[in-house]
Amino acid sequence: MNFETTKVITDIAYLISAVLFIVGIKRLGKVRTARQGNFLAALGMFLAVVVTLANNQVITFELIIAGILIGALIGVVMAFKVEMTGMPQMVAIFNGFGGAASVLISSAEFIKSPVHEVQTAATIFLSVLIGGVTFTGSLIAFGKLQGLVTEKAVMFPLQHALNAFLILVSIGLGVLLSVDSFTLTNIFQSLGMAAPEANAILWVTVGLALFMGILLVIPIGGADMPVVISLLNSYSGIAASTTGFVLGNKVLIITGALVGASGIILTQIMCVSMNRSLLNVLLGGFGNVAGGESSGDGKEIVYKQVGVEETAMMFDSASSVIIVPGYGMAVAQAQHVVRELSDLLNARGTTVRYAIHPVAGRMPGHMNVLLAEANVDYEQLKEMDEINDDFSNTDIALIIGANDVTNPAARHDKNSPIYGMPILNCDKARTSIVIKRSLRPGYAGVDNELYGYDNCLMYLGDAKDAISKLITEIKANA
Ligand code: TAP
Repeated sequence: MNFETTKVITDIAYLISAVLFIVGIKRLGKVRTARQGNFLAALGMFLAVVVTLANNQVITFELIIAGILIGALIGVVMAFKVEMTGMPQMVAIFNGFGGAASVLISSAEFIKSPVHEVQTAATIFLSVLIGGVTFTGSLIAFGKLQGLVTEKAVMFPLQHALNAFLILVSIGLGVLLSVDSFTLTNIFQSLGMAAPEANAILWVTVGLALFMGILLVIPIGGADMPVVISLLNSYSGIAASTTGFVLGNKVLIITGALVGASGIILTQIMCVSMNRSLLNVLLGGFGNVAGGESSGDGKEIVYKQVGVEETAMMFDSASSVIIVPGYGMAVAQAQHVVRELSDLLNARGTTVRYAIHPVAGRMPGHMNVLLAEANVDYEQLKEMDEINDDFSNTDIALIIGANDVTNPAARHDKNSPIYGMPILNCDKARTSIVIKRSLRPGYAGVDNELYGYDNCLMYLGDAKDAISKLITEIKANA
């Protein structure tokens, strides 16, 4: 096959891959079609990989096969070992590797050829800069979530000024990398210095990017890490896309752009759902409150505690129940017993639905993934906007390990860090029953005033344990 024909076939295959990615992402948007979406996107990636490997530019297959085997082995082990609660860290580290790959490929391209067109050099610079920031930023995010690096927001004087200065330095390096050797020599001569090797400028850029990645993420508290991970995911896509331009690889440009765009859209959705601006997250400091003392108004919450017998009796007379899952359900791995409880109630004629807050848990779609794992019927899962008006017609809002997403203070307490965050209207249900281990605050570090409301009952305990006991009690009463 001649070069032109190979190129046409490659381009058509890349186009099919790109269509599969786009249709795949579209299908991932709905729980019902998500598995199919995942399959289509994976098929697109398989096609892209096969076509790239079949391309006659590949010099040797040995290293590629060794890489695939080692990578696949590590991936399989990680996929089996990772806990559901450890998913954000895993995504973080994957983003980091994506960034590192962009740095390595673009650096290799720069070193390979002594002369570069301005646009190629500028693209290499962007790929190295964004990839480097993504790599170390993701490692710090991973470290924070894994408890290897302090979860607290690390702030120091003139931090933002230093960041602004480094951005200016990086722009300068970008210019130096992009100009031809003659202009480079002239620039340095006018400064009375000898011009450095172009490769030396590249290495300084790599070092600066790695340093900037650390500085970007250390001021952000561990609690805000999911937002940062989503942003870094977007960066890894942009880095991959610029690397695609460096290599002239269309499918890499498209996939990178898709990852970059979807990452930034997700980041925006998370910020809106938390009523925070991205700038507010990036400037840092918020996470310092998380897990610490409450920042409520200092009034002690007087709450009513119930035991398993009373709780079971309440379900006897309930005809409608809305289950509100949160981070605690993930920690307790209670999703299977939650489904068992809802099946039991359903069988007794009670209508059971699940209210899913967009930022319940610690990662996008956290609750959907857990409940899907427990085979909860998709039809029972309702988005916040879809179900929020129904709480007032509901007998019991059963809150399982959720806290911030149910806190009515978000509606009216202007001093609360969650003020303005849309919440689930659990307080409007005839009775709300809260399952958690204590009165400790959740992610935002604030007391939940719901617990002091007249229609709220606390059934304290580990979610899995408490629900298992509740199931036994309901069955015993039947
Ligand atoms: P949180 O407000 O974090 O509350 C979780 C509650 O679960 C805690 O108060 C804890 O209370 C309880 N818990 C922990 N382990 C438990 C166990 N084994 N059994 C029973 N309960 C347990 O969770 P949420 O309501 O899901 O809200 C999510 C928060 O994360 C929001 O503030 C949101 O803004 C933030 N956030 C979410 C995301 C995404 S994308 N989901 C991203 C960034 C930030 P006890 O210790 O008393 O048990």
